[in-house]
Amino acid sequence: MKVIFWVIILIGLLPLTASGSDTNDYIQGRALAATCTGCHGTDGRGQGGIPNISGWERKVFVDRMLYFKSGNAQATLMHQIAPGYTLEQINLMAQYFSKK
Ligand code: HEC
Repeated sequence: MKVIFWVIILIGLLPLTASGSDTNDYIQGRALAATCTGCHGTDGRGQGGIPNISGWERKVFVDRMLYFKSGNAQATLMHQIAPGYTLEQINLMAQYFSKK
């Protein structure tokens, strides 16, 4: 009987832990994104000739960043910035900016 009680409690808590990690991803994404908005504008919407990076499909964003990271992309700045981020961090930023 006790076991059943705890199983029910644990199943009840599952959605909480899932949404908790989404929130965590969002907070981490936002913190990382803050290093981009100085150039790309609030929420990454672009400013002063620097392109908009908000609302992009996640995969497109990640591919673009990996291309900069590879050093093969023609760029004035991003080939220096992108290598500073891991794939995991790029994914978090892609998720954050895709919802902006
Ligand atoms: C110092 C200014 C600066 C910062 C900081 C910066 N960017 Fe950029 N970004 C640029 C410029 C300029 C370009 C245009 C490509 C180039 O010349 O490097 C660009 C281009 C891009 C593009 C491609 C846009 C397109 O239309 O092809 C992406 C994606 C991007 N940046 C993401 C980021 C992310 C993510 C960050 C934060 C980790 C960031 N940028 C930080 C200046 C910056």
